[in-house]
Amino acid sequence: MRARKRKHGAERIEACAEVLVTDKAAVHENAQLPFDDVRPLCLEIGCGKGKFSCEMAVAHPEANFYAMEKVQDVMVCAVEKAMAHEGGPRGNLRFIIGDAKELTEWFAPKTFDCIFLNFSDPWPKKGYYKRRLTYREFLEIYKTLLKDDGILRLKTDNVGLFDFSLEEFEAAGMEVVKISRDLHASEYNEGNIMTEYETNFSSQGMPINFAEVKVK
Ligand SMILES: C[S@@+](CC[C@H](N)C(=O)[O-])C[C@H]1O[C@@H](n2cnc3c(N)ncnc32)[C@H](O)[C@@H]1O
Repeated sequence: MRARKRKHGAERIEACAEVLVTDKAAVHENAQLPFDDVRPLCLEIGCGKGKFSCEMAVAHPEANFYAMEKVQDVMVCAVEKAMAHEGGPRGNLRFIIGDAKELTEWFAPKTFDCIFLNFSDPWPKKGYYKRRLTYREFLEIYKTLLKDDGILRLKTDNVGLFDFSLEEFEAAGMEVVKISRDLHASEYNEGNIMTEYETNFSSQGMPINFAEVKVK
């Protein structure tokens, strides 16, 4: 996603400090700290404008959600969406501006019950595959952060990225427990919350690829 420069981005982010987490050391020490109660923990990586995590936090008050995004100008929209939520910002949703490469600086091993990768950038050009968020080096990070029975969920419109990811899961010793090449027509669609990209792609009639994997 090429980010449009947002006017007064820094000030707008500052105004949403309530839903942003910036203290790496404190979060690493206790990932439950920013939330109003201790609950199972989920993480969305590359949350974009935040629709998915905002709606997941409402639909699942029994869980706590972190949403990470590396581009500040994109995160502006996500945190403003969270702040504007009916009833005020939720006690079970927090945002981090950062790169997935740094996740182990933010979180201790075995922190998460679930990690979501939604419509990650496909990096289709030859030679760029190591940037894909399902490249094996990223999977090793997620394996460290997932609890023993934790799961990773991937959704993408991009068949090339999906096929690549299935190979990388295998190489990283991760087992595919659910898979669909057309999520919206499948049994796994119940309770599915659509992301911004998903809404856009599915309105054009494109099928959504979905996989749920766990560490073998
Ligand atoms: C194609 S957009 C999808 C946004 C959203 N998940 C959706 O489905 O609507 C991918 C997002 O992932 C973010 N991203 C890409 N690589 C990242 C990384 N290494 N760490 C954190 N965010 C990343 C991009 O900045 C972009 O906002």
